[in-house]
Amino acid sequence: MGLEGKNVIVTGGVFGIGSVIVDSFVKAGAHVIIADLEKTAGIKYAKKLRGAVEFFRVDLGKEAGIKAFIRSAVSRHKKIDILINNAGIGGWQNIEKRRTSEWQRIIAVNLTGPYLCVKYALPYMPEGSVIINISSTRALMSEKNTEPYSASKGGLLALTHALAVSLSENKIRVNAISPGWIDTSAFGKKGHAAQVKLKKSDLLQHPAGRVGTPSDVSEACLFLADNERAGFITGQNLVIDGGMTKKMIYS
Ligand SMILES: NC(=O)c1ccc[n+]([C@@H]2O[C@H](COP(=O)([O-])OP(=O)(O)OC[C@H]3O[C@@H](n4cnc5c(N)ncnc54)[C@H](O)[C@@H]3O)[C@@H](O)[C@H]2O)c1
Repeated sequence: MGLEGKNVIVTGGVFGIGSVIVDSFVKAGAHVIIADLEKTAGIKYAKKLRGAVEFFRVDLGKEAGIKAFIRSAVSRHKKIDILINNAGIGGWQNIEKRRTSEWQRIIAVNLTGPYLCVKYALPYMPEGSVIINISSTRALMSEKNTEPYSASKGGLLALTHALAVSLSENKIRVNAISPGWIDTSAFGKKGHAAQVKLKKSDLLQHPAGRVGTPSDVSEACLFLADNERAGFITGQNLVIDGGMTKKMIYS
């Protein structure tokens, strides 16, 4: 897939799934703009990828930061062809104990952040541009004590189909990907699923016989970003979970 001349924003592109999405789009010839909180690692990573990647330190939970980031990115590059809203945070806590500020922060980063990235990037997105929102299978099913994460990811799926309809006038396609268990342990302590030693039962409980890898997600991003192959797909949610959400688990 030739993405030469295309500018791609990947939020949360320094660690985990986001960093593999960045690598895949760079390999496909794109210029990638990372928006992430992690300054030191972000600058180091951009240096390693020599000019193909630019790093902006942005807190995606803050509107002013997002607005300033898009302004600087387009002052250099004039257009954004692909926006991948990948950054996300979680946190397990009992509803009675969880501070309201924590609920608000998770909703701000995971749901309001993607909305604002679209709002401010839209004037610079030409016809044929593509938006991909990284949701989660937790938008569809839950463990205990995950209310803000699940609600934010469910909201992101609804935001995806709302935008797909609104932006059809701009000829922009908008889709979501919902990963299940993706092993990001190769990316150090900072990844939210990091440092888990996988047991055989972790793998075998999946109908696919394994947990996911970040490249399972990045390959789907490349597909959805391609107007030739995925031009008739918009407003959809692609679940990448090794079959877990299709498995009946009544005992
Ligand atoms: N790993 C999984 O199993 C899994 C499963 C389902 C969905 N997801 C989703 O995939 C996406 C990536 O997950 P991951 O496992 O790679 O996460 P991760 O924690 O490894 O990486 C997240 C990245 O986002 C950045 N980030 C966090 N908060 C930010 C903020 N306020 N502003 C800017 N950047 C910020 C981090 O610095 C990091 O680079 C997330 O949206 C997550 O919810 C992950």
